[in-house]
Amino acid sequence: MTKTKIAPSLLAADFGNLQRDVEMVNQSEADWHHIDIMDGVFVPNISYGMPVLKNIQKHATKPLDVHLMIVDPDRYIKTFAELGASVLSVHYEACNHLHRSLQAIKAEGMKAGVAINPHTSISLLEDTIKDIDVVCLMSVNPGFGGQSFIENTYEKVRYLKELIDNKRAKTLIEIDGGVTSKNAKALVDAGADILVAGSFVFKSDNPIETIQELKNITG
Ligand code: DX5
Ligand code: ZN
Repeated sequence: MTKTKIAPSLLAADFGNLQRDVEMVNQSEADWHHIDIMDGVFVPNISYGMPVLKNIQKHATKPLDVHLMIVDPDRYIKTFAELGASVLSVHYEACNHLHRSLQAIKAEGMKAGVAINPHTSISLLEDTIKDIDVVCLMSVNPGFGGQSFIENTYEKVRYLKELIDNKRAKTLIEIDGGVTSKNAKALVDAGADILVAGSFVFKSDNPIETIQELKNITG
């Protein structure tokens, strides 16, 4: 089995020292940089946009995992490809034509991700799972870092893993929100492949060691 990927979310970084924090992730054992883009419409918060991502990209040495929390994401697929995204995730709840969006993301050379809110059922992915490279399972309501993990997520991970196996899909399962050293192992045991961690990493005394700790726990 391949190793669990750790994707620190830069939403929790110090925006006054963004280059320093991106370089910390470069030097750590993390696998991806998780980038949260919020538009203040799909979610009740605005994070950062293209000019900031352009600067993150300048310093980042690991793949950019871009999580779009915006309405009508099709408008910006090309833009995020140009900004260097390796994985581009759109929200299930924000797409009228999810299959078309997935094809458009792949046509730009990126891996296609679908993020789903805590209230959205896994069963809604039955007909698209083979077209999805990464399912980003939200374990908090999207919009803010530092929220508490929703316990129902474990059941969703197991159900999603079953769906992926039954359909013989190659989809990876990513967990986003409230991930800590307390739930990381159980999430991987349930079937998670990628763990996003914002506050747990950046608000810790030694983020490099915290990333290492997550790596060690998850094997
Ligand atoms: C929430 C974002 C998450 C967030 C996770 O809407 O999608 O990526 O940064 O932050 P923590 O790990 O603090 O819950
Ligand atoms: Zn995210």
